Amino acid sequence: MQRNMIKLLMPALLLMSFNLMAEGNVDKGQSLSGTCAACHGMDGNSVNPIWPSLAGQHEAYLGRQIKLFRDGQRENAMMAPMVASLSDQDVADLAAYFAAQKLKLKAANPDSVELGRKIYQGGDKERNIPACMSCHGPTGQGNPLSGYPVLANQHAAYTVIQLKAYKTGKSMVDKDDVNGQIMADVARYMTEEEIDAVASYVQGLKAAQ
Ligand code: HEC
Ligand code: HEC
Repeated sequence: MQRNMIKLLMPALLLMSFNLMAEGNVDKGQSLSGTCAACHGMDGNSVNPIWPSLAGQHEAYLGRQIKLFRDGQRENAMMAPMVASLSDQDVADLAAYFAAQKLKLKAANPDSVELGRKIYQGGDKERNIPACMSCHGPTGQGNPLSGYPVLANQHAAYTVIQLKAYKTGKSMVDKDDVNGQIMADVARYMTEEEIDAVASYVQGLKAAQ
């Protein structure tokens, strides 16, 4: 590569690596988390099942979602004002704090566990419903590098709300982003019964010992 070209690219490269290095600080995140506690709980275990627990969620996923709310791409009247004035560093700190908390274990509804497991592990090929497991993993721990969130032990009521929002196209996620598109396709052909069952199933998923 030519010298001039390298000179031109250097600032951009430096900025990129700086961005990647903008690491979250757990203590600073904790001091910022007071405004989140009313809904998401002091330790990221939310007090109302229609609000998501944040504890133990992947740091990068949390950071991405907070920015989507802040920047108006994921819409929610309760969330948006809470994060409107956060800097990128604040977001990283909060994401680090909540990712480091411990998510409380929950149980599945035994009545629907069979249907939930069937969808989660196998999907329904004929109806274009993919197996959730192929991205979110056998025990619902997701995949941090691919941006697939943890589903295990999330409140079923919250998961139902998200799946219905995806299904009806009110996906509230970044429409220009590949990851923002995936779930609309996943949920499109699911019935309400299947949504309820799979949400309950993942609420009871336990990580492998
Ligand atoms: C008044 C209640 C309330 C407060 C306070 C609040 N949130 Fe939320 N939060 C919500 C609701 C409701 C949702 C779900 C929104 C939706 O359905 O899209 C949510 C969703 C989220 C999500 C997405 C989780 C996921 O699994 O996708 C993150 C991350 C988040 N909030 C972080 C924060 C942070 C950080 C703060 C504090 C700076 C905060 N919230 C304060 C109500 C609140
Ligand atoms: C091809 C990969 C893929 C498959 C298959 C998949 N998901 Fe997802 N899922 C994602 C991605 C990526 C996101 C995060 C979207 C974003 O960041 O905006 C997500 C997000 C979610 C969320 C939102 C989590 C939260 O905290 O708000 C739920 C709930 C969910 N998926 C449930 C399911 C269920 C149930 C299935 C099976 C029926 C499934 N997913 C299949 C990739 C997948």
